[in-house]
Amino acid sequence: MVPRLIVVSNRVAVPDPEGPRQAGGLAVAVNAALKHREGIWFGWSGEISEDGAETSPRVITRRQRSFVTIDLSATDFQEYYNGFANRVLWPILHYRVDLAEFTAVDLGGYLRVNARFAEALSRFIRPDDWIWVHDYHLLPLAKELRARGHDNPIGFFLHIPCPSPDILMALPQHAETMATLAQYDLVGTQTEHDAENLRHYFEQQGATFGRNRVAFDLDGRRVQLRSFPVAIATKVYARTARTAIRSDFAAEMRDSLNSRKLILGVDRLDYSKGIPHRIQGFGQFLETFPQWRHHVTYLQVTPKSRSEVPEYADINQTVITLVGQINGRYGEPAWTPIRYVNRAYSRASLAALYRMAAVGLVTPLRDGMNLVAKEYIAAQDPEDPGVLVLSQFAGAAEELDGALLVNPLEAEAMAAAIDTALQMPLAERQERHRRMYRHLSANDIDRWAERFLSALAESQQAPRLFDNLRSLFVARG
Ligand code: F6P
Repeated sequence: MVPRLIVVSNRVAVPDPEGPRQAGGLAVAVNAALKHREGIWFGWSGEISEDGAETSPRVITRRQRSFVTIDLSATDFQEYYNGFANRVLWPILHYRVDLAEFTAVDLGGYLRVNARFAEALSRFIRPDDWIWVHDYHLLPLAKELRARGHDNPIGFFLHIPCPSPDILMALPQHAETMATLAQYDLVGTQTEHDAENLRHYFEQQGATFGRNRVAFDLDGRRVQLRSFPVAIATKVYARTARTAIRSDFAAEMRDSLNSRKLILGVDRLDYSKGIPHRIQGFGQFLETFPQWRHHVTYLQVTPKSRSEVPEYADINQTVITLVGQINGRYGEPAWTPIRYVNRAYSRASLAALYRMAAVGLVTPLRDGMNLVAKEYIAAQDPEDPGVLVLSQFAGAAEELDGALLVNPLEAEAMAAAIDTALQMPLAERQERHRRMYRHLSANDIDRWAERFLSALAESQQAPRLFDNLRSLFVARG
């Protein structure tokens, strides 16, 4: 019998019969995990309740899947989400120790909300359930669940990067958060580089590793630690792009380009995405390769995000200023070099834009994976594909070997890569695309979920097998 799976994440994509289909990266991943099994998806409702108001979990059931959500109070939201998760963990895990704003109050709020999640979830857990926790908002959740007597298999997947121990140790009271990952049976990271960083961290916490370094022992617990590069529903996305390119939205966009080549960036407005550096790289491109002026349009689609966090408001101002400077400097009455749009678009609209773009610019300063890079590849026309210019600091760079890799801090290198991409011969574009598409088809989101859940199953069997062998040995001895 397939065990029931409980997925826990900060946000939950509760299906809305009135609204569009929910299909963000996390929703696609959770759908894949819950595809062939009964399951619960538990997390924050996205609603803020008044401080002190007692709210109980809301449950919505659709076929064999239940969505269980709780509200956060204004104080919880401020301290847990805006505070510790997004002003301490997010910057530090993205290597931006300089941006971390730690307060003991926010850490307290973070630990309190994790305890609240565990308390609210506890009554839904059956002894034979598997539990899969997602991302940096919920590092100590397993500790809280164990404290409530749940010895179920619990896995954790970190969607964002994991830096080296030197940087992790800058995290105040890291034992309260990072080190509690040892309470899980399986910890997954995006890349092998992240996994190795975390292994080094645990070694410094006293963990001992086996020869293959995929499992460690700490405080009497055995924990598996491996990389599972998150993926997309490749074939579904390719199909979406093939259809979306025939939409009115796509036709209007194509007309507006007036035969100019499209260079495209799509990112949440976040300092980790390197948007100012990318705009400067594009400015450098117009400066170094003036022959492209008038012949390209750079569209940067950037929905606002986490606006209550001061660093996110600052980045908006920086981007607006840079776009204005470059448009002012190089623009003409009949040509605007950069179009900057602060709006979120449907998956289908984005797929159409990706397919239309001769160059996909994905140049974060640091990124756990970056699914835009994978979606850009999946959306291309194999007969006439665009070229991906990808940051060497995106997790996706470990896999997408047909991309032009750049250091986003080097404007000249970015400018040269854009020029190379625009000039790349068709046969080379096809060959690079074919290679990456093949990889993404073989390693899609279903395979990702399957790999993680098989490893979680193994993490249960391995210690038992070991114990059985030991008891056999003791009995014979
Ligand atoms: O990249 C990490 C992540 O949590 C994603 O899973 C999610 O899409 C994104 O950040 C959005 O963050 P938030 O929930 O803060 O808007």
